[in-house]
Amino acid sequence: LEALFTPPLLTGQHVLITAGPTFEAIDPVRGITNLSSGKMGFAIARAARAAGAQVTLVAGPVHLPTPRGVRRIDVRSAQNMLAIVEEKAREATIFIAAAAVADWRPATAALHKIKKDGTGDVPALEFVENPDILATVARTERARAGRLYCVGFAAESENLLEHASAKRERKGVPLLVGNIGPATFGQDDNALLLVDAQGHRELPRASKEALGHQLVAEIARRLAAV
Ligand code: CTP
Ligand code: CA
Repeated sequence: LEALFTPPLLTGQHVLITAGPTFEAIDPVRGITNLSSGKMGFAIARAARAAGAQVTLVAGPVHLPTPRGVRRIDVRSAQNMLAIVEEKAREATIFIAAAAVADWRPATAALHKIKKDGTGDVPALEFVENPDILATVARTERARAGRLYCVGFAAESENLLEHASAKRERKGVPLLVGNIGPATFGQDDNALLLVDAQGHRELPRASKEALGHQLVAEIARRLAAV
């Protein structure tokens, strides 16, 4: 694999990556979250670093070691993640949104632990939509001027190509990567579907580590072409 990166494909690039789930508090001891181990995002961070890039990894709550040579910033909620990403995106040249962001959060987080009231009544939770981090970044001046190349992921349970293509256009990103099912949460391997303006291609089932390297090579090739 080393040979793949000589000369390093991403020298001079600054890659910003989100990874893992977000956690949205209900009260101080409870919350809602998404299924995501963070493995794919962390593998991409390692691959980007090996390809010579400066790498910033914004991670939700995961149990993974920080890749060597990568700057890692831990966050909890989607709002925390957005704040850090907006700041770091000002200097990045590539943004890869691999995080499984919770789409909704409780409208308010209770200050103290919600107690059972003894009647069997359950708390009525109200939700509000979280900001779309990828779409927000893709709309920035930098991204629209082509100085920040944005890559999204898509988690779908059906009609992957159709949904991924629609999502690519809706989010306004040049490259959208679909996870080819069945669910790969927490697994060490995966298969990916790459969708761009030219069409689509599949990266067949392999370790997330190997797919990270292949994805980095695909991104570098697209950057070189513009
Ligand atoms: N994403 C994001 N912020 C959100 C939701 C999603 O940055 N609040 C990013 C994800 O990291 C991923 C892409 O957007 O790169 C697509 O996420 P996905 O959950 O598949 O799509 P959604 O737009 O949330 O639509 P839905 O879940 O309804 O399919
Ligand atoms: Ca979603």
